[in-house]
Amino acid sequence: MTVSITPASPADAPELAALAALTFPLACPPQVSAADSAAFVAKHLSETAFGQYLADDSKQILAARQDGSLIGYALLVFAAASDAEVSDALQQLPAPAAELSKCYVHPAAHGAGAAAALMQAAVDTAAASGYRTLWLGVNDLNLRAQAFYRKSGFSEIGRRNFTVGGHVFRDFILALSLSPDNG
Ligand SMILES: CC(C)(COP(=O)(O)OP(=O)(O)OC[C@H]1O[C@@H](n2cnc3c(N)ncnc32)[C@H](O)[C@@H]1OP(=O)(O)O)[C@@H](O)C(=O)NCCC(=O)NCCS
Repeated sequence: MTVSITPASPADAPELAALAALTFPLACPPQVSAADSAAFVAKHLSETAFGQYLADDSKQILAARQDGSLIGYALLVFAAASDAEVSDALQQLPAPAAELSKCYVHPAAHGAGAAAALMQAAVDTAAASGYRTLWLGVNDLNLRAQAFYRKSGFSEIGRRNFTVGGHVFRDFILALSLSPDNG
């Protein structure tokens, strides 16, 4: 599989929103209803929301494409964590820390290396921007994503709340130390 990873541009917002609507439900545990998932997508993963992420200097979206079609995306956040549990957990790791806020690949491309290419680009981008740690949150029932993150070098540093619909989930916080070699 030949995958290209490039920074997304505002013109990519419609395609990003379409892929996000397809892939967000895959990350949700069974307690999240289709209506709750759709409401989350409408609020946080719409074309408008992606337009705002793309216009935000503290965020960067990486787009994975195969034969021109978007098959995955990652959203990096270059800002101090606002969640106190995350900030506390990050104390044990080198600063500054960037967040891998989203990492989603089309199901037809799972297991084929696209996610690894996206992760490598995210690590390279964060390291090249001077960040020394990359962290993320993942639901405790999302075993495939956890396996992917662990084989990418992440390990657990704590837990934090993540709300979808009326449910508050205790996500794992995973982190990876970035060496200058990562960039
Ligand atoms: C998370 C994601 C980007 C990873 O990409 P991927 O292509 O699926 O990743 P890989 O196949 O390289 O790695 C997944 C690993 O989990 C393993 N796995 C699959 N199902 C599993 C399960 N139920 N339990 C444990 N491990 C599992 C796979 O075998 C693979 O390990 P291996 O390479 O040692 O065989 C992709 O699965 C995805 O987009 N998922 C839906 C959205 C999502 O959950 N995003 C993350 C939100 S935090």
